Amino acid sequence: MDTHSRKKRHQTENNADAAGPVPEPRPELTGITWQNESGGSGKCFFLADEKATENFGRLLGTLAADGDVYCLSGDLGAGKTLMSKGVCKAVGVEEEDVVSPTFALMNIYNGKVMEVRHFDLYRLDSPEELADIGFYEYVGGEGVSLIEWGDLFQSELPPEYLQVNLTIVPEGRMVELIPFGLRYEAVSKEVLRHVNAGA
Ligand SMILES: Nc1ncnc2c1ncn2[C@@H]1O[C@H](COP(=O)(O)OP(=O)(O)OP(=O)(O)O)[C@@H](O)[C@H]1O
Ligand SMILES: [Mg+2]
Repeated sequence: MDTHSRKKRHQTENNADAAGPVPEPRPELTGITWQNESGGSGKCFFLADEKATENFGRLLGTLAADGDVYCLSGDLGAGKTLMSKGVCKAVGVEEEDVVSPTFALMNIYNGKVMEVRHFDLYRLDSPEELADIGFYEYVGGEGVSLIEWGDLFQSELPPEYLQVNLTIVPEGRMVELIPFGLRYEAVSKEVLRHVNAGA
C-alpha cells in the first residue's frame, strides 16, 4: 500500500461519520431502581432525583434506533421534558439547544448520532392541528420521535411505540414503560437489563 492510500485508510478509520455513529457510553444509573412488585402492566422504575430522571432518558437515548417513537405522559412537572433532554444528550444534541416544545409544539434537533423530533401536544385541540405541525410526516420518520402528552391523541399515534408514563410520588418519580410492538418490548427489556446490571 502506498503512503497516500495508507494515509487515506487511516483517515477513514478515524472518521466517526464513515465508521457510523458512536453512541454515548451508558449513563450513570445511580438512583434508578426497578420496582418488581409495582403491579403495573409494564416495567416500573423509581427515579430518586432529577439526575435519575435525566439519566433514564439517556439510557433510552443510547438504546434508540432510527424510526423509534417514545410517547411521554404524566402530570405537569412530572419530568417529561427533563427525560427528553436525557434522550437528546445521548444522541449527541448540544444540551443548551434543548428547550421544552410547549410553545413551539415541535422542535427538531440534529444530534450527532441521530435527529430528534420533540413534540408537546398539550396545547393542541384537534387532529387537524396535528396535521398543521407536520405530526403525521415527522413521527416515526428519521431519527427518534419524542411526544410529550401523546396520550391526549392516542388514536393518532402510530401502531407501535413505547409508552413512558411518569408519576409524581413524594420521594421522587415513578416511570412505567409500556411497549406496543416487538421493537419496544425489546427496548424495555434492555432498559431493565441495564438498570439491574448497574444496580
Ligand atoms: N426524580 C425526580 N425527583 C424529584 N424531582 C424531579 C425528578 N425528576 C424531575 N424532577 C423535577 O420535576 C420537574 C420536571 O419538569 P419537566 O419540565 O421535565 O416536566 P414536564 O413533565 O415536561 O412538565 P410539562 O407537562 O409542564 O411539560 C423539574 O422541576 C425537575 O426538577
Ligand atoms: Mg414538558
